[in-house]
Amino acid sequence: MSKPLSPRESEIKARGVPRHVGMIMDGNGRWAKARGLPRLSGHREGAKSVRAVIRTARRLGCEALTLYAFSAQNWERPMEEVEGLMGLLRDYLIKEGQELLETDIRLHAAGDLDRLPEKVLAPLRVLCEKTAGCGSMTLTLCLSYGGREELVHMARRLVEDVQHGDLESSSIDEHALAERLWTGSLPELDLIIRTSGEQRISNFLLWSSAYSELVFVPTLWPDFREEAFLDAIEEYQRRERRFGRATSRGGVAGASQ
Ligand code: IPE
Ligand code: IPE
Ligand code: MG
Repeated sequence: MSKPLSPRESEIKARGVPRHVGMIMDGNGRWAKARGLPRLSGHREGAKSVRAVIRTARRLGCEALTLYAFSAQNWERPMEEVEGLMGLLRDYLIKEGQELLETDIRLHAAGDLDRLPEKVLAPLRVLCEKTAGCGSMTLTLCLSYGGREELVHMARRLVEDVQHGDLESSSIDEHALAERLWTGSLPELDLIIRTSGEQRISNFLLWSSAYSELVFVPTLWPDFREEAFLDAIEEYQRRERRFGRATSRGGVAGASQ
C-alpha cells in the first residue's frame, strides 16, 4: 500500500492540489546520451520516474494523472527504438498491475490504440478491465496519441452520430465534443508539466489544455522523481488562474477556481 504523507506533502495537499495533471515525459534520450548509454537505457530509467510520479500524485489526492508516453509522431523513430519502447511498455503493464489495483487506480488508455502491437494491447486491455472499478485516481496513458489526431477522431464520431440520428447538429456543444475525445470524461486539466527544458506542447491534449497552467522544468525525465513533482505542484500553487476574468483575487491556483 502507499506510504503515508510526508510533512511536505501534507502541507501541499492542504493548500489544494490540481485535480488533473498532464505530464510530458521528455528527455530520456538526452539522459542516456550524457552517460554514453543507448537511448533505451534512458527510457528504462524513465519508467522509475513514472512509478514515482504515479505514487506521489495518488498520495496527494489528484483525481487524474495523464502521461504522454508515446506520441503519434514517435512512430517515426528508428524501428529499434520503437520496438524497445513497446517492450518496456509491455513489461511495465505486466509488472505494475498489482500495485495499481492495490492503490485503487483505474487505468485508461488514450490514442490510436489499434496501431499498438498485440504484445502491448493484450496486457493493456487486461489491466484496464481489471482496474475499471477503481476509484481513487484515473491514470491515463497516452499511447500512439496526438492531440490533432484526437480532434480528427472526435469529428468523425460526431458526424457518425449525427448521421445515425443519435445527435442533433443543433445540440452540438462543448460537452458533446469533449465526451467524444479519446481522453473522454476526465476532470478539467489544471496543470501540464514538461520535463527536459523544451517549452512546447508537442501535440499533447490540445482541446483540454485551453486553460491549463504550464510548468516547464529543465530536469530530464529519468531524474524527475517525488521531490521534483512536488516542486512543480508548488509552482502551480503560486500561479493565479483567471480564466479570462478581469478581477485578481490574489489566491493560490489550487483555490482560485
Ligand atoms: C521522451 O524522451 C520519451 C518519448 C518521447 C517516448 P525522448 O526519447 O524524447 O528523449 P529526448 O528528447 O531525445 O532527450
Ligand atoms: C513528446 O516528446 C512526446 C512524449 C513525451 C511521448 P518528443 O520528444 O516526441 O517531442 P518533440 O519531438 O521534442 O517535440
Ligand atoms: Mg524528446
